Amino acid sequence: MQALLDDVASIVDTTDDQYEITKLVAERLSALLDSDYRLLPELTRPSADHHVNYPLHIAPDGSWSVAVVVWAPGQRTPVHGHETWGVVGIYSGSEREIRYAKPTGPGPLTPMGEQVWERGQVTVCCTTDDDVHAVVAAADEPTIGIHVYGADIGTIERRLYDPATGEVRWFVGGWNTP
Ligand SMILES: [Fe+2]
Repeated sequence: MQALLDDVASIVDTTDDQYEITKLVAERLSALLDSDYRLLPELTRPSADHHVNYPLHIAPDGSWSVAVVVWAPGQRTPVHGHETWGVVGIYSGSEREIRYAKPTGPGPLTPMGEQVWERGQVTVCCTTDDDVHAVVAAADEPTIGIHVYGADIGTIERRLYDPATGEVRWFVGGWNTP
């Protein structure tokens, strides 16, 4: 994990291009998931109520962060945006991702398809122009993702969407305590 953190710090120092950053971070995250790296047990515990976001690392200047996101089977997120770049790797379980086009005006959201991501897979979930989705934990065991974002994802203002109307509500996701 320290190697991943060092690599991400170096990547975000080297370029501001979010497409380049996410491509490089995805390569590093993929290598981590292919290794024998194991998360601390306290970072893998689901909550009965809702999926949880544990902070694995927050850059001192808040310019990027690494979250461990844990869902109990069947838990789902509302449709949400991220307002930054993001790379998601599946550590255990599986995520069904339902994507939407980022709206440029009022009205219902346009679905862009679904995909199931399995353990070991890595996906660029977000660039600032394409960052709207909902996620469902699709496995019988807890689903655990390691997510790298181009901001302190627990503290920034983000959008929640009503996909039927396009109505937006702003929220702050927060961090959970392991
Ligand atoms: Fe998300």
